[in-house]
Amino acid sequence: MKTSSARIQGLGTTIFAEMSALAARTSAINLGQGFPDTDGPDFVIEAAVDALRSGHNQYAPGNGIASLRKAITDHQRRFYGLELDPDTEVAVTTGATEAIAAALLSLVDPGDEVIVFEPYYDSYVAGIQFAGGVRKPVTLRAPDFRPNLDELRAAVTARTTAILLNSPHNPTGTVLTRDELAAFADVAIEHDLVVISDEVYEHLTFGAHRHIPIATLPGMAERTLTVSSGGKTFSFTGWKIGWATGPAQLVGALLSSKQFLTYTSGSPLQPAIAEALGADDSYFAQFTRQLTAQRDQLCDGLRDIGFDVFVPEGTFFATTDIRPLGFDDGVEFCMALPERVGVAAIPHQVFYDDIDAGRPLVRWAFCKRPDIIAEALRRLKTLPDLGRSC
Ligand SMILES: Cc1ncc(COP(=O)(O)O)c(C=O)c1O
Repeated sequence: MKTSSARIQGLGTTIFAEMSALAARTSAINLGQGFPDTDGPDFVIEAAVDALRSGHNQYAPGNGIASLRKAITDHQRRFYGLELDPDTEVAVTTGATEAIAAALLSLVDPGDEVIVFEPYYDSYVAGIQFAGGVRKPVTLRAPDFRPNLDELRAAVTARTTAILLNSPHNPTGTVLTRDELAAFADVAIEHDLVVISDEVYEHLTFGAHRHIPIATLPGMAERTLTVSSGGKTFSFTGWKIGWATGPAQLVGALLSSKQFLTYTSGSPLQPAIAEALGADDSYFAQFTRQLTAQRDQLCDGLRDIGFDVFVPEGTFFATTDIRPLGFDDGVEFCMALPERVGVAAIPHQVFYDDIDAGRPLVRWAFCKRPDIIAEALRRLKTLPDLGRSC
């Protein structure tokens, strides 16, 4: 009996599921997976309850309910000045994950090359592989994790069809500047490439750093599929309401795959995310303030313990180099950590083809309550002794 196809070879179990299961087994504090430990705003939950009680329980239209598509276009205009047609230039998906997978399935042929940052979000690897594509990584290296634009240009070949961009970037926290985005735009335009831009952390930037959608750059709206979701912005990661926006031709292509993956999902949650997208500016400002405080709490604490800390410009995650504490392999470190000190984290290494570039790096999520972060830091204080005894 054949029990697996070539399409799933090497994919294994996602590190996030593996580390969350390990955290649960050992009752460790889970600073691994990027989900908040506090639910999003009450008015959004109330909207979902209302929808459940008022008949939003059957299939929604395949491209999403009209009020959510309109809310998404209003959001793109309000924050970025982008004008989109809610009927043809928006698709609601089962999280950003499905939008990315459907985009890759619809736009990439076997043998086509897709340029992607490494460390990469692991569903990109799977999505490219499902489509039969070949990933061409551009490595973000410590300590600053900026893209090397020469490497980017060198990565383009006659087989390149798409750039899969992610900013704010998971796991490094890099937020691409306008100049960096312009370099990507130049390459995309010069080589006539599609850009799939994963912007799920669009509202999670800190200090002076601001998210700029690449679709706002000259010549890019017509070749970019912008992907986001309500999970991170509104702390409802379990709802899996995502979307893609872009030119009708690209959105239409994405829907061709999406209709046969899930067709549609989350009917009662779609009106609630439509409400959420219309939240006051104060919601977004307060969310960023709170996450900034949690970022600083975690980064300061990890630095005090002795890690080299790379303070993120955006996202839910801080990265550390573990070598100052006497460890050198992030996978071994993270596999042992829950048992040894009762905290779970994620090794960068599994997100690189260039394993050495990620070997000593570990990612910690700070989308957790301050008391939980404090307790995790208290537990981690025993690490320097453990490192020296290794
Ligand atoms: C960069 C990135 N893209 C996409 C996703 C998945 O988003 P969703 O839960 O909306 O599918 C995540 C979740 O962690 C992520 O970090």
